[in-house]
Amino acid sequence: MAATGTRTFQNFIGGEWVDAASGATFESTSPATGEPIGTFPLSGPEDVDRAVEAAKAAYEEWRLVPAPARGEILYRFGALVREHKDELALLMSREMGKVLAEAGGDVQEAIDMSFYMAGEGRRLFGQTTPSELRNKFNMSVRMPIGVIGVITPWNFPIAIPSWKIAPALVCGNTVVFKPATDTPALGERFVELLVEAGVPAGVVNVVHGGGGAVGERLVQHPDVPVITLTGSRETGVAVMRSAADNLKHVHLELGGKNAVIVLDDADLDLAADGIIWSAFGTSGQRCTAASRVIVHRKVYGELQSRLVAAAEKLRLGPGWEADTDVGPVINDRALEKIHSYTGIGRDEGATLLTGGEVARGDGLERGFFYRPTIFGDVEPGMRVAQEEIFGPTTALIPVQDTDEAIRVANGVRFGLSSSIFTRDVNTAFRAMRDLVTGITYVNAGTIGAEVHLPFGGMKETGNGHREAGQAALDVFTEWKSIYVDYSGKLQRAQIDNAE
Ligand code: UN1
Repeated sequence: MAATGTRTFQNFIGGEWVDAASGATFESTSPATGEPIGTFPLSGPEDVDRAVEAAKAAYEEWRLVPAPARGEILYRFGALVREHKDELALLMSREMGKVLAEAGGDVQEAIDMSFYMAGEGRRLFGQTTPSELRNKFNMSVRMPIGVIGVITPWNFPIAIPSWKIAPALVCGNTVVFKPATDTPALGERFVELLVEAGVPAGVVNVVHGGGGAVGERLVQHPDVPVITLTGSRETGVAVMRSAADNLKHVHLELGGKNAVIVLDDADLDLAADGIIWSAFGTSGQRCTAASRVIVHRKVYGELQSRLVAAAEKLRLGPGWEADTDVGPVINDRALEKIHSYTGIGRDEGATLLTGGEVARGDGLERGFFYRPTIFGDVEPGMRVAQEEIFGPTTALIPVQDTDEAIRVANGVRFGLSSSIFTRDVNTAFRAMRDLVTGITYVNAGTIGAEVHLPFGGMKETGNGHREAGQAALDVFTEWKSIYVDYSGKLQRAQIDNAE
């Protein structure tokens, strides 16, 4: 067990570890056992104000540090995260609940992102382009924006902060970071390692506390021009609304209702493996989780029995135990919400094939464990087929053909990830074109995005931005177009080139 014990942690503001101004605190506990992880400052608006002030002051120096030197710090950070990978993964399985292999993957994603964005320090490409006039030079460059408000969820407590903070920093911005209140110890370790990597005082600040007091103040603070949030649709709407008064840039990564399509020519073993991994990995608590399976009627019965058999074999337990397949869900509210959807599905007339209950026995009652749940005979319009449950529940929807499968897949408000299992290359290409999602997998489940490709969703999953890959740079920079006239005389664009 990593030795955080019940240590008391602090905010990090302007290079100093400090308590919340009010002195208030909250506890982080393990969703698997209830054991305490640590005590954290329950901050308020005054703590946010101090952090923003520190970040704003540090920005004036940090924006002038050459981008390759900013990247060097991210290389060191990536190396430190790699050195501490096992410790972070263990802490993650205790504080957030995911199984060790997945926790290692979460940490690895942060290592990959840090190295990828470190390399951006020597790219951050703009463009040079001809001028319409003689003796004139045109170019566009990326400029940093200022203080970035970073609000992250608990489900990828190391990876998602890296998706936001690494590009923010390499682009020359400073950061005020509010980690999720369910995973503050991981947010804290993330910042400790950044400091160890050499991030100067004030460049990254962490303020622990709830969305109401800390998040809201960050979103409304006039000196925070960019907010990047991964969270629920409801939070996204509230953030966008309250950021509107200052015309802030808002980057939102919200819900999903991701579907796997299985056609009658699919490799059913492969499809079943992909579905089980995508629906029940991280206990279904991924934005990219497969919470719908759209199946051709010809293979529906066969696939259904394979999925039920596989789901019933999954062993629930604390994430750090070697034989655990599925860890707990994050907290009692999540457990309640997930279970309420079992009731909703039943009432709507879906067939509960397996699961549908809080798991007990073998010490599981100390944590928040829910049995992997599969509904069959689901109609596309049912709430279990429309709403994000964010738990280990998936809905099987029978369809007649490819057209119907794609129509059903697109028939939700979200558009994050989609997948199709087929051996027909023509059908696969049609799906790649017609599925309205930011990510599409062919012959693989709906999870497993890599850091060098854009990550994000269409429709109400977000607001058109992407994280990861080159696309992330658009969130953390502003374009500036520069015209250099070396003709020594007045040259009027659109006029003096007309003859
Ligand atoms: C998320 O659930 O918010 O593709 C992120 C995946 C992971 C990231 C998920 N690499 O499932």
